[in-house]
Amino acid sequence: MRKIVIAGNWKMFKTRDEALQFIYNVNMEIPNREMVESVICAQAPLLRDLVKRQGDNLRIGAQNMHEKSEGAFTGEVSAALLENIGVRYVIIGHSERREHFGETDESVNKKLHQALRYGLTPIVCVGEPLAVREKGETDAYVEEQTEKALSGVKADEMEDVVIAYEPIWAIGTGKTATPEMADEAIKNIRQTIGRIHDAGTADKVRILYGGSVNTENIGELIAMEDIDGALVGGASLSAKNFLKMLSIAHEHINK
Ligand code: 13P
Repeated sequence: MRKIVIAGNWKMFKTRDEALQFIYNVNMEIPNREMVESVICAQAPLLRDLVKRQGDNLRIGAQNMHEKSEGAFTGEVSAALLENIGVRYVIIGHSERREHFGETDESVNKKLHQALRYGLTPIVCVGEPLAVREKGETDAYVEEQTEKALSGVKADEMEDVVIAYEPIWAIGTGKTATPEMADEAIKNIRQTIGRIHDAGTADKVRILYGGSVNTENIGELIAMEDIDGALVGGASLSAKNFLKMLSIAHEHINK
């Protein structure tokens, strides 16, 4: 049984006051983390404050990190520091970073190794642009991204890796992939991991869906066989909606 992960990606939203208010509103109501893994990924300057106030059942994640341990890399954040301040997750290779900040499959791979070295759980993002889907080349595109991201990662490390399938055309657009489309792409990612390692290893990897997930559609998405949770942007900014999504996930596992 793979444990469901519901991760909020706040992107470049929320001031410190807003972030602390959110934590205050959700803390007591987050489902037990033995049941659902609840994560908030916030802007770097908020992370320490959030970790201090996170409560037992919430985990805090960063949205990016550098691939090196330290050095003259002005403006970057190291995995060593994230680990040191109590951050547990890190999003790697989000499509917005690939598009606006020159993230490549190679840098994603280096960051993934670095995150594992420091005991951070990477949430590695893959997903196709609209033009690729329209040409019917989604499978090959996502397979290649997955293979390159996971290059050199050992089978016994894969249990600590979370993957998020986020089709770019579904991000922030209100156009969610249908549960069937998302499940098909995620099955393909799982098969790719199975080819790299073996089916048993692939079975253990949590693969999330992201792209316009909200309180209305999360239930049908996580009900699909291969979808192990969600990476949620806009809808995770509201404490009420975040809690609602967690409670839907919690109900789902109690079924
Ligand atoms: P939205 O949920 O706002 O579409 O964002 C998805 C996303 O990019 C999460 O990482």
